[in-house]
Formats: sequence, structure tokens, C-alpha cells
Amino acid sequence: MRLFVAVPVPDPARVQILKLLSELRAAGWPVRWVHDEGLHMTLKFFGEVGPERLDVIAEALRYAADDAGILALQLGDLGAFPSRSRPRVLWVGVTAPPALELLQDRIERGCEAIGFPPEGAPFQPHITLGRVREGQRLPPKGLDEHADSFDRVAFAGQELVLYESVLTTGGPRYEPRLTLEFGH
Ligand code: 2AM
Repeated sequence: MRLFVAVPVPDPARVQILKLLSELRAAGWPVRWVHDEGLHMTLKFFGEVGPERLDVIAEALRYAADDAGILALQLGDLGAFPSRSRPRVLWVGVTAPPALELLQDRIERGCEAIGFPPEGAPFQPHITLGRVREGQRLPPKGLDEHADSFDRVAFAGQELVLYESVLTTGGPRYEPRLTLEFGH
């Protein structure tokens, strides 16, 4: 199974992202947009994992999330990987308190201890909106034109969810496999 752990995006941020997504979809760019369901901020991507490893992953996540409280988050700017001038993955940034970085670091270290090496790149909290199709480009300044198509609302990170990414002909669907609520 293909697994990753993330914080789901609840209202009111979800509403703003859906509004932005519907405007972006209407722009007709060569982008595979994410589905409206399952908007999330990834903390760790595991990749393909044998189902027998689920228990040990769940234990590492429980340990990492154990004393995490509800996170006061806020939507940030529209951005792209690897950069806004060469956009491949389009996203909305998330402004977060230091507690998010601590949580992400605990997850990284806990997962490293059970055999999942940390990502090379520094953690940059974001919600992915879509991926530019292979060999295609966005119009110049395309992202700039939509910079104000949504409100940078505050929202609460309430839980950590281990998702299975199930590949379908309509793109990946994210199925929750384990939910750990913060502040419990
Ligand atoms: P992204 O938001 O930066 O695209 C499911 O694919 C989730 O896992 C996505 O949110 C994706 O992050 C994240 N992810 C992180 N590393 C990944 C990788 N190497 N391949 C696919 N998805 C990855």
C-alpha cells in the first residue's frame, strides 16, 4: 500500500481552497488538479509499504502525536515546487506555529527508527492543488493572477491521518486508514 501521513484541511480553509481550485480549473491550464475531497497537508510520505508494517507505523505516529495539541494554522500564499518561475507542483502554503515543526520532526525521527529515512528537503508546509502535466507549462504570471483569489483564513489542525493513496483511472484517491486526534 502507498501511505502518507497528513493533517486534513477543515473548513473554513477548505472552502477557500475549493473556491481557488474552481477558478484555477476554469483557467484551462495543463494541470492535473487534486480532487475536492481529501485536501491535506502532508507531514511524511512513506511510499509503497507492506501491510504488515501498518502496526509499527501506527505506533510511531501515536507516539509522535501523543502530546500534540490542536494547531493554529493559516493559509499562506500560492506557490510552486521547484519554484514559482518553473512551476511543476502548485500549492497553497500554510503558516504554522513552531509546534507543527516539532510534530513533523518527531514523526521523521520516529519513522527513521522503524526504517523510513527522512526526506532530504526541509519541511515546507503546503496543500497541493495540482501538478503541471509532463512537458507542459503554465502561462507566464499565471500564478500571480490568482494570488488574491482566496482569503488567507485561519483554521485548526485537529488530527493526524494516515492515508492510503489508491491509484484509480481518475487519479489517486486518499483513503484514511488511521486517525489520531490532537489534544487527547
Ligand atoms: P505533495 O503535496 O508535495 O505533492 C500523496 O501523494 C501525498 O504525499 C501528496 O500530498 C504528496 O506531497 C506527498 N508526497 C511527498 N513525497 C512524495 C513522493 N515522493 N511521491 C508522491 N507523493 C509524495
